[in-house]
Amino acid sequence: MRQKIIIDTDPGQDDAIAILLALASPKKIDVLGIVAVAGNVPLNLAKKNALKVVEISGFLDTKVFAGCDRPLKRKLVTAENVHGKTGLDGPDLPEPKIKLQKQHGVDYIIEALRSHKTKTITLCPLGPLTNIATAMQQAPDIIGRIKQIVLMGGAYFEVGNVTPSAEFNIYVDPDAADFVLRSGVPITMLPLDVTHQVLTTQKRIKKIKNIGNETGKIVSQMTVFFERFDEAKYGSDGAPLHDPCVIAYLLKPKLFEGRQVNVQIETKSKLTLGMSVVDYWGITDIKTHPRNVNFIRNVNAKGFYKLLTKRLALLP
Ligand code: BDR
Ligand code: CA
Repeated sequence: MRQKIIIDTDPGQDDAIAILLALASPKKIDVLGIVAVAGNVPLNLAKKNALKVVEISGFLDTKVFAGCDRPLKRKLVTAENVHGKTGLDGPDLPEPKIKLQKQHGVDYIIEALRSHKTKTITLCPLGPLTNIATAMQQAPDIIGRIKQIVLMGGAYFEVGNVTPSAEFNIYVDPDAADFVLRSGVPITMLPLDVTHQVLTTQKRIKKIKNIGNETGKIVSQMTVFFERFDEAKYGSDGAPLHDPCVIAYLLKPKLFEGRQVNVQIETKSKLTLGMSVVDYWGITDIKTHPRNVNFIRNVNAKGFYKLLTKRLALLP
């Protein structure tokens, strides 16, 4: 059965590759809509980037919406230092011709959940959780209608990338993440612990470039730009391909391994703001600390790149 999903995103090169992977898998995944959120770049760029990515895929009927332009309670923190000033630096992409939907992204999420059969839509957040939390707060009736949330965010063993203790997506809007994690919706988290296992090594990117299509060329140009930051930071061959892990998880959950644990988000401390506090070892009492997250710890990186390369080959 095709899985109906809504992608909530702040593109970002790795977001772009996640969107391409989803759109390249129409037999398995039905992308109902893509909603932009402020994160890696401000909303104006995020929504334009989402349109650009849809154009690369050739699936021009895909609906793109603009959601929230700032976190629930805080000033927006962006990541141009990683993604470049456009958010999609690397390839030279034309201005998008397709148009944004007029409806606000949050209203779209609410309407989609109300108008589809209950528990049939999976939300796939690839950026800060602002849109998702706002939708839940504006329309609490949708919470019980969400099939599941599969998100990229958080970390336990890798701890942090934007601060020593926090992962970027959670750090930008910790209040939204806290709200979503307490919502009771089944949640799967793809944290840095996993994404740091799927590095864009030269060998892997060469294979994608060698597919010979335009998408392969663009994806390799994106990763070459995106890599430089993490290579300098971690001394690695390549960078973590964070967000595509969400879509790969939907397509082939067997590539991943994790456990059901309690996860809480730090929203008060200055030092550890946005930290995902993961009870990986089951230390807390289940009565006071519900096991609210399927926390993924490992991925079969070879299988992940095999899947990604095969799917990207299906695009123009
Ligand atoms: C996350 O932050 C963003 O920079 C990436 O797109 C990814 O969603 C990784 O921490
Ligand atoms: Ca992202």
